[in-house]
Amino acid sequence: MKIENLTIPVRVYQFEELEASIKTLFEKAIANLPNAHAPYSQFHVSSASLLENGEIVCGTNQENASFPLGLCAERINLAAIAALYPKTKVLKMAIVIENKRSPVLHPVAPCGMCRQAILEQENIANSPIEIWLKGQGDVVYAINSVKDLLPINFDGSCLV
Ligand code: THU
Repeated sequence: MKIENLTIPVRVYQFEELEASIKTLFEKAIANLPNAHAPYSQFHVSSASLLENGEIVCGTNQENASFPLGLCAERINLAAIAALYPKTKVLKMAIVIENKRSPVLHPVAPCGMCRQAILEQENIANSPIEIWLKGQGDVVYAINSVKDLLPINFDGSCLV
């Protein structure tokens, strides 16, 4: 038996030190937070993605009175990209949250289902998607690829 320790490189920033293009992506995500429909959880999530064609597409979580029907911001964001700009590579996603019940200052990471959905997009494009995370505080995490969040993962190569 041997133990393999996996390390995940996470870059940690203060919001103010971010370069302008990432600040813009976060600002779009923050501006779109009010479009979340989250009356049940009061937890608003907004994702803004920069595409290879320079466009920025946003998505927010959309809940339903029948709780399991709700959709996370990240998967709404990816679906919007597929509808508006099919087959277009996603370069970066900036994900922000606002917990209306009680502020969460630290960056919040995408749930497991969204990680899997982002992984599919990375594999389709054969290109990593940078993931940028911000909570309600000033700390920002940058992750080079969703594979760093799902280091041992399931993908289409398992289904051949
Ligand atoms: N949520 C997201 O939008 N993205 C995630 O990655 C985690 C959770 C949403 C789902 C639900 O509307 C609310 O946050 C609370 O779980």
